Amino acid sequence: MPVAGYGTRFLPVTKTQPKEMLPVLNKPVIHYLVEEAVASGIEEIIIVTGRGKRAIEDYFDHSFELEHNLVEKGKHELLKEVQAISKLAKFTYVRQPVPRGCGDAILQAMHLVQNEPVAVLFGDDLVFSDTPALSQLLEVYEQTQGSVIALTELSQDMLGQYGVVDLAQPFDPKQHYAPLKGLVEKPAEPSLAPSNFGVIGKYVLSPQIPGLLDEMSALHNFQNGELRLANVLMEAISRGQQVYGKQIQGERFDAGSVEGLLRASLAVARAQGIQI
Ligand code: G1P
Repeated sequence: MPVAGYGTRFLPVTKTQPKEMLPVLNKPVIHYLVEEAVASGIEEIIIVTGRGKRAIEDYFDHSFELEHNLVEKGKHELLKEVQAISKLAKFTYVRQPVPRGCGDAILQAMHLVQNEPVAVLFGDDLVFSDTPALSQLLEVYEQTQGSVIALTELSQDMLGQYGVVDLAQPFDPKQHYAPLKGLVEKPAEPSLAPSNFGVIGKYVLSPQIPGLLDEMSALHNFQNGELRLANVLMEAISRGQQVYGKQIQGERFDAGSVEGLLRASLAVARAQGIQI
């Protein structure tokens, strides 16, 4: 999970608070992502952090004073809830020294991944669904052994804000995935978009991708000072590597926008029967 962004859309709150720690009702965004990963069978989570993100490490750690206080007050239910957070998974933290793009952030963790597929979840996309979104991607990986990108259908006016995929064939009618033949990052106008399916921040990368990331980084293949995952996946496709797009089933929220975060909070509140 790369969490190195500044969260400028949420200023001033993100002046001292990582955007991934902003609440969706009473849990931070990153808690939902960790739950999604764990529910999809992931046991080891590497969080790529940067300056100002220490609250994330504290959140998934034990909180001795708080736990002690809850014991003394006899608040056993809350104690259980708080303790469970640090037991969700095995956490490792790596810092990205210079913010040089999401591809570079992922590269910082690749020495911990040994020739195996790796899931990448960005904090901007929350999906509430019966089958976790990452599980849906992993199902495609298991069948194809190719990299898999999460997709959502977009209205015309949203196409310019997303990576838009070029499908090599129509989606499989049952499982809603297809091989990709290209990707246009943030098309300048709707007519340049090869489809109306946009990339959301959830990926399964095949074991071939770390090598490509390394290669592109060594070649200084950066765009505006950034090594972007979208460019790496485009390069993978152009070299004939298998990359698939999977239309995610579920309700998706753009937690990277103020409106999306608010909508996600309202959805969780309603699901919990809170009257608004
Ligand atoms: C990134 C990706 C883009 C994707 C988007 C989803 O863009 O490059 O392909 O559609 O995330 O949130 P960013 O939002 O970081 O500019």
